[in-house]
Amino acid sequence: MDLGLQNKVAVVTGASRGLGLAIAESLAREGCKLAICARGKDGLEAAAEKLEKLGAEVLSLSADITDPDAHGRLIGATVDRFGRLDVLVNSAGGNRRGRFTELDDQAWDEILDLNFKAHVRMTRSAVPHLSRVSGAVLFIASIFGREAGGPGLTAYNSTKSALISLAKIMALELAEHGVRVNSLAPGSIRFPGGSWDRRCLEDPQAMEEFVDRNLPLGRFGRAQEIGDVAAFLCSERASWITGACLNVDGGQSRALF
Ligand SMILES: NC(=O)c1ccc[n+]([C@@H]2O[C@H](COP(=O)([O-])OP(=O)(O)OC[C@H]3O[C@@H](n4cnc5c(N)ncnc54)[C@H](OP(=O)(O)O)[C@@H]3O)[C@@H](O)[C@H]2O)c1
Repeated sequence: MDLGLQNKVAVVTGASRGLGLAIAESLAREGCKLAICARGKDGLEAAAEKLEKLGAEVLSLSADITDPDAHGRLIGATVDRFGRLDVLVNSAGGNRRGRFTELDDQAWDEILDLNFKAHVRMTRSAVPHLSRVSGAVLFIASIFGREAGGPGLTAYNSTKSALISLAKIMALELAEHGVRVNSLAPGSIRFPGGSWDRRCLEDPQAMEEFVDRNLPLGRFGRAQEIGDVAAFLCSERASWITGACLNVDGGQSRALF
């Protein structure tokens, strides 16, 4: 199936490794031009090289998305370089573990900035430039934005639930402008250097039990399995999907909806 993404322009935040990189790779394979950002310059350069090898034109910008001017710089540079904007994937994010009674204002501010407010700002900057024909925004949330992730995840869960809610309402507001907005909820995805990989290397026995208990397909998800679904959701082949949150989790989540 041709996703119709040839020569479209996509911004992917947090694309130097992990899911963001896999999403950028899937978009590159479909013929997108890419603007990517992350803080670390080395990782970003290595990612840009990988994407160029897949045939993509790449703009990479080292930026901390929690900086209040990062969104303007990234979106501005993208439109200057490529002359258009079709897709924004907000993938950068992180976790802040800690029980509710242990998290102070600073901890909440940091995780809200990284996992939520930075995406609000980035998307606000992007919307005026997004194509009225092929415009698509995707937020990378988590299955733990849809159901309880367990003790120690109040901050993470809250930000991911907020992203799903944001996408739903934005979809209603932007429909009249021809821009679709969705969120994607990954389950546990393992890739070299990622958080699940670290835990598997530290405690293989515990992680084997985790897989047996939680992952019906008997393995962790792979980054490309997120990348390919993200590319589909951002493509014209998903033209009737907006306001949706799609689980990509190998059956891990327990919620009915
Ligand atoms: N992996 C999973 O199993 C899983 C499951 C559910 C949801 N998710 C979500 O998927 C997204 C990606 O997860 P991941 O596992 O791929 O994470 P990851 O391996 O930690 O990669 C995060 C990416 O974001 C960048 N980044 C982090 N903080 C940033 C900041 N302040 N400004 C700009 N870039 C920043 C990182 O580069 P620098 O550090 O160089 O900035 C990196 O490129 C996250 O939103 C995460 O919550 C992941």
